[in-house]
Amino acid sequence: MSKKVIDLLNAGRARELAAISQYMTQHYELEDKDFGKLAKKMKEIGIQEMKHAEALAERILFLKGEPTTKPDAVAVKGQEIAEMLKTNIALETQAIKMYNEAAVICAAEKDQISKQLFEKLLVEEEEHLNFFENTKDHLAKLGDVYLVGLTG
Ligand SMILES: [Fe+2]
Ligand SMILES: [Fe+2]
Repeated sequence: MSKKVIDLLNAGRARELAAISQYMTQHYELEDKDFGKLAKKMKEIGIQEMKHAEALAERILFLKGEPTTKPDAVAVKGQEIAEMLKTNIALETQAIKMYNEAAVICAAEKDQISKQLFEKLLVEEEEHLNFFENTKDHLAKLGDVYLVGLTG
């Protein structure tokens, strides 16, 4: 089996681990500030990223590789909501670029299953990006009025 593919899967896993740590940090920070609705959404997305990290680990093990336990970035703490969204948009944008490239390389390495795994993850990363971008736009347009809607 291709070492190249295992490395790509592990790079994806490191990215997922960073996203989990970032979104769970935001989850408890938002919860603490009483932004319950956004906090709940961050937890949901964080759990999806956990499933991504797990799916990548399963594929790595199947290919006789060793799943990494190291995130590729450290979670940023103490950001305002607008900054959080910027951080998350960057995380998702990088993941989307990474997974699109990985899918192409997996195909070249004749590993259709790993290619499909990256494609499956991409569907959800695009949804995450869309959610963060929409939330950022609403916040920019409506400001405090929108923030009130995120409490609860
Ligand atoms: Fe993910
Ligand atoms: Fe994501």
